[in-house]
Amino acid sequence: MDQNQKKMSAAAEAVKYVKENAILGVGTGSTVNYFIDGLEPIKDKIKGAVSSSVASTKKLEAMGIKVFDLNEIDSFDIYVDGADEINPEMDMIKGGGAALTREKIVAAVAKQFICIVDDTKVVDVLGKFPLPVEVIPMAREYVARELTKLGGRPVYREGCVTDNGNHILDVHDLRITEPKKLEQLVNAIPGVVTVGIFGKRGADVLIVGTEDGVKVSSRQ
Ligand code: 5RP
Repeated sequence: MDQNQKKMSAAAEAVKYVKENAILGVGTGSTVNYFIDGLEPIKDKIKGAVSSSVASTKKLEAMGIKVFDLNEIDSFDIYVDGADEINPEMDMIKGGGAALTREKIVAAVAKQFICIVDDTKVVDVLGKFPLPVEVIPMAREYVARELTKLGGRPVYREGCVTDNGNHILDVHDLRITEPKKLEQLVNAIPGVVTVGIFGKRGADVLIVGTEDGVKVSSRQ
């Protein structure tokens, strides 16, 4: 079974959490694309979605699923998204697809975060995957110097402009033993829009696609 098949099986399991008449929070990335595909048979039974990126919005709308402006919605039950890494406490690194800011906003409004990954994403300690940080373009070099002081090696993601018109620094060489603390520290640097650590709002349910089928766990 290859990585894509594992992503597909995790995504299919997440479709089972979708209730009739629901508005869904929808993340971004290749695993979420499988989840959106999985909505096809039930798309007429849901009210619609709140989307975390231009790419997911386009895919949802192409299927005929209504996409709501988040400002119109007070609350909704589930947010389904992938991750670049997830640890046993269900803290995550996200932002490999540069959608981290909108993902964090939509996740904050959802009652439950359902994370769908293949088993290569499950780690003991976050940080092998370079940590994405969305920055205001004029602050890029300043933020990079501050991230270096925190022990990281920031690399500018050349050619990447986020849906919000900002830039991404990918921070290498971090071993993130205290994700929530680092999340706060990086978010406090002037010019940082969002750091890709999802610790304050981690996942509630983790669905992992593996060689032996899907493994589901919930936050204790
Ligand atoms: C996008 C993300 C994605 O959830 C993350 O990069 C995982 O992507 P994929 O499902 O393609 O492996 O955070 O900003």
